[in-house]
Amino acid sequence: MINKPMLTVACLTIALSVFSGCGGEPKTPTVQSPPAASSTNSGTSAAATDMKSAANNANQPNTQSGTPANNQTAAPNVSQTGSQSGSSGAAPGTVGKAADSSLSKPGAIQVVTSPESITVLVNKQQALPESYEPKDLVYPNVPFTFTEKIDKRKMRKEAAAALETLFEGAKKDGISLAGVSAYRSYATQKTLYNNYVKQDGEEKAKTYSALPGHSEHETGLAIDVSGSNGKCAAQNCFAVTKEAKWLDSHAAEYGFIIRYPDGKESITGYQYEPWHLRYVGTQLSKELAQKNLTLEEYFNAVPVQSRK
Ligand code: DAL
Ligand code: ZN
Repeated sequence: MINKPMLTVACLTIALSVFSGCGGEPKTPTVQSPPAASSTNSGTSAAATDMKSAANNANQPNTQSGTPANNQTAAPNVSQTGSQSGSSGAAPGTVGKAADSSLSKPGAIQVVTSPESITVLVNKQQALPESYEPKDLVYPNVPFTFTEKIDKRKMRKEAAAALETLFEGAKKDGISLAGVSAYRSYATQKTLYNNYVKQDGEEKAKTYSALPGHSEHETGLAIDVSGSNGKCAAQNCFAVTKEAKWLDSHAAEYGFIIRYPDGKESITGYQYEPWHLRYVGTQLSKELAQKNLTLEEYFNAVPVQSRK
């Protein structure tokens, strides 16, 4: 039985210079991040790995079926009862009153009341309390694409330990990984999101960047990962790397899921991010992988794009 509720960042140096796609990918005229390996960003100006390439995902070939794994996604919003559970009994986090007093509206934003839950559902409808700060952030003992000991290197203790085991497992299979961006504060996410809006416009930004309060990186349970050379970090070209393939096949063994899968964009509300790992614990990660479910599907949450 999975314990009740719980609930993400990316970093990115916003550069307006021309992005050279890799792996034969089309070049993108908009978002460009320098290789994460050379990133020295810190604090709120830190690069948000999640998004760079996301703006160009339309150029990515789909490798999965675009069909949701089940048809339960129209179920009542989990946040309105705070007790809805998925097939393993996990709950996405008790949800309290909406901060904007629009709880009764179909598209109301719900504020989760158990943000510390390992299985917390944070998405476009469900927000973390603005003041939420994970209490047990630590520095995972894994390589990152930068050397500074800064916030975006941190994860919650349990997730950090699992990440260390995952990196060791990958190493045994000849795969060298590096962290790119993990924890972000509300303030950092706000700066990132606002920068993306300036860069790409609101509509586009929302397809790859979460509003502040809505990013899994703020939970300390999410991390963007690349190969150890930082090549294609948080860019579409990461999808075809051996590192991405390894993560896709093995992350669940270590309690992580690829949170924004290819083909599930209309459910998660975000473009494919093969680099964004979310820790949920091994029981849930294995079930989600086996059933090909997103967290939204598992918790019977309403598909993101069906709500305005
Ligand atoms: N790129 C993901 C959705 C985030 O901003 O948290
Ligand atoms: Zn991310």
